[in-house]
Amino acid sequence: MSNANKSTGFTHEKVETSNFLMIVLILVVVAIGGLVEIVPLFFQKSTTEAVQGLKPYTALQLAGRDIYVREGCNNCHSQMIRPFRAETLRYGHYSVAGEFVYDHPHLWGSKRTGPDLHRVGGKYSDEWHRIHLNNPRDVVPESNMPAYPWLEKNQVDAAAMPRHMKALRTVGVPYSDDEIGKASEDVKGKTEMDALVAYLQVLGRALR
Ligand code: HEC
Repeated sequence: MSNANKSTGFTHEKVETSNFLMIVLILVVVAIGGLVEIVPLFFQKSTTEAVQGLKPYTALQLAGRDIYVREGCNNCHSQMIRPFRAETLRYGHYSVAGEFVYDHPHLWGSKRTGPDLHRVGGKYSDEWHRIHLNNPRDVVPESNMPAYPWLEKNQVDAAAMPRHMKALRTVGVPYSDDEIGKASEDVKGKTEMDALVAYLQVLGRALR
């Protein structure tokens, strides 16, 4: 260590020998790197504006989405088609940010025990989904997906829907008073199976 360095008072040695200083400075440097990457995304149209044709989930689809979360479907299924040939050939158009602007929380997932579901909407009939969710082995004999037989028996919690949609409106989902007003009515008497299938059938439809 030269005398010249010592006399400046703030040497590299000081940083290297002080845990506290080292940690603080590392955090500052990492924070700057992170912010430079993340902050612009909040202002780019490609990440903040809905793709053309994307509609907020209807009350029934939203109820289905909640069941999807409750049952942990996202632990085995991603909703994020990556822009690679092997993926686009299998699943269709890769996912773009503008398709997820009404998703709170997003369900991209990272684990694919089963296939990606982002563009599963319209791939099968409602009836196929009902049989499959009730017992996957009835349509895909080698399937190791769990069965969800209770979905057909449980009713959707209709009373919760207006509050749920109001909460989503506060974070930017453009629901009208009218839509919120008739949300309970829309899902009344529907089973959890109806709701989940409605949700699956709308996945990825805005962009193909
Ligand atoms: C333990 C992991 C696991 C869980 C949890 C799981 N799945 Fe699956 N899923 C699979 C596997 C494996 C397949 C492929 C075999 C098959 O089609 O059954 C699959 C297939 C599917 C398919 C057909 C996809 C296609 O393109 O053919 C749909 C739709 C589906 N799952 C929906 C769901 C929903 C909805 C839930 C939650 C209620 C769920 N899965 C929970 C593993 C899982």
